[in-house]
Amino acid sequence: MASRTINVLSVASECAPLVKTGGLADVVGALPAAVAEHGVQMRTLLPGYPQVMEKLGKTKIALKLPSLFGGPAKLVSATAFGLDLLILDAPHLFHRAGNIYLGPDGKDWPDNPERFAALSLVATKIAMGDLKGWQPQVLHCHDWQAGLVPEYLNMAGGTGKIGTVLTIHNIAFHGLADVAKLKTLGLKKARYTPDTFEFWGKISALKAGLTGADRLTTVSPTYATELMTDHFGMGLDGVMRHRRGDLSGILNGIDEAVWNPAIDPEITPYKTAAGKAANKSALQKEFGLPKSDGPLCVVVSRLTDQKGLDLLLDCLPHLTHLGGQLALLGSGDPGLEQGFKKAAEHPQIAVKIGYDEALSHRMMAGGDAILIPSRFEPCGLTQLYGLKYGTIPLVALTGGLADTVINASPAALATGVATGVQFNPITHDSLITALDRLISLYNDPKTWAQLRKNAMKQPVGWGPSASSYTDLYRDVTPPV
Ligand code: ADP
Ligand code: GLC
Repeated sequence: MASRTINVLSVASECAPLVKTGGLADVVGALPAAVAEHGVQMRTLLPGYPQVMEKLGKTKIALKLPSLFGGPAKLVSATAFGLDLLILDAPHLFHRAGNIYLGPDGKDWPDNPERFAALSLVATKIAMGDLKGWQPQVLHCHDWQAGLVPEYLNMAGGTGKIGTVLTIHNIAFHGLADVAKLKTLGLKKARYTPDTFEFWGKISALKAGLTGADRLTTVSPTYATELMTDHFGMGLDGVMRHRRGDLSGILNGIDEAVWNPAIDPEITPYKTAAGKAANKSALQKEFGLPKSDGPLCVVVSRLTDQKGLDLLLDCLPHLTHLGGQLALLGSGDPGLEQGFKKAAEHPQIAVKIGYDEALSHRMMAGGDAILIPSRFEPCGLTQLYGLKYGTIPLVALTGGLADTVINASPAALATGVATGVQFNPITHDSLITALDRLISLYNDPKTWAQLRKNAMKQPVGWGPSASSYTDLYRDVTPPV
C-alpha cells in the first residue's frame, strides 16, 4: 500500500538557485525534489529579497498581511526552478541591495531579529491554516532564521497539532536579539527563561528552535556528536545534550542534476577522470597559472575563521616548494582576502576574491585536489562536489568532512576504498604533513588514478538522507 502524502513547509533564509551565500542554499534548494520521491509534498517559504523577486515570473497572492513588523506585506506563491515557493514579500524588511544578512558596513542589519521573526511568524500562520487550499503537517525549520517557529506555534496553540523539525546547519550563528526586543518580536516575557529562549541575557532565536522543536537534526552524524561538546557546541552544548534523544545527524547530499561532470554546462563534460585534463588546462589559463607537473589545488570557500584558511595561507610556501599550485575563489574576512591577494604574488598561486557560481563549477572540474582545512564543518558540500568531479579532497578530520572522505591510509589504499586525505589535529604542522601526503600520492600516477576512480564512484546523492528526512517527517506528523 502506498503511504500517504505528507505536506511539509520548509522555512529558510536562502535557497539555490534563487539566493545563496553558502551550503544552506544548496540543501534547501535540493531537498524538495529529493523527498518528493518518497511522497513528501514540500513547499519552501523564503524572504522576498530583490534577487528572489526578480526570478519569480508569474506570482499569485496567497495571503495579505496588512501589518507585519512595521509595514504591509503579502505572501505570494510561485513555481520556479522546479520549486514550489511561498515568498514573503515585505518590502520594508527585505527589499535591500547587497548582502541578505549584512548592511553596507559589513555588520548584521540591525533589524535582522525582526526580519526573520517575520518569516517565522508567517510560517506559523500558514501552519495554522491561514492559506486557502494548502496546510502543512510538518514545518521544517532551517537554522536560527526559522528558530522562532516553534515558539510562535506554541503561542498560536499549534504545538502538538503540527510537527516541527529544526535542522542545525551551523550552531555558530545564534540569531541573538536584545531583550528590549521581546515586545517588538511579539514574544512573552514569561517564556523568556533559560529553558526556552533566554541565552546569557539575550533572546536567542536558535535556542527557541532547539528547545521548542519536536525533533532536531544536523547535517552529519559526526557534527551531531560534536555539538554536545563544549568545544563545538558554542555555548549550546548543554541544550544539545539535554535533547540528545531527539537529535539525529543526517548527511547532506548534492543535487546531481546541477553538480555532475557528465552534464555540467560550465565545463568540458567528462565521465572518467581522464576528461579532467582539458578542464585543468582551461582553469590554469583562466587563473593565469602556468602549465605544471604538480597538482592544481583549488579552494572555493567563504573566507572565515571556521574554514581554517589562515592555516593554509601559512602552508602555501611549502605547497609551492613541493611543486603544487593553488587557485582560490572566495570572499569574506578582509584580513584573509588581503593575505591571499598578497600570496598571489607568487607565480604558482592565483586568487579571485568574489562570489562566482559558474567559476566554482569550472574549479571543481579543473582542480586535481580541493583543500578544506576547516576548524569545524557541520557537513561541507565542496568536498562532495570534489568527490563527484574526481577532485581529491584534502580535509580536516571534523564534522561532515570526517563522515564523507575515506582517508588514504595504507590499509584503505590496499583495499581500494580511499577517496581523499584527512588530517588531525587541525594545526599548521599537521596540514603540512597532509600536503606532503597529497603530493606523494599525486606523484604516484597509478595510486592517484585509483583514488580519483574511487572518489568518482562514491555515492554523494540524496538517496539515503532523503529517506531519513521522510521517516522523520512521518514520525512527527500528528495523528489525524
Ligand atoms: P558553508 O555553507 O559553510 O559556506 P559548504 O561547503 O556547505 O560551506 O557550502 C558552500 C557552498 O557555497 C558551496 O556550494 C560552494 O561552492 C559555495 N561557495 C562558497 N564560496 C563561494 C564563492 N566565492 N563563489 C562561488 N561559490 C561559493
Ligand atoms: C552550513 C555549514 C556547512 C554545511 C551547510 C549546509 O553553512 O557551515 O558545513 O554544509 O550549512 O548544511
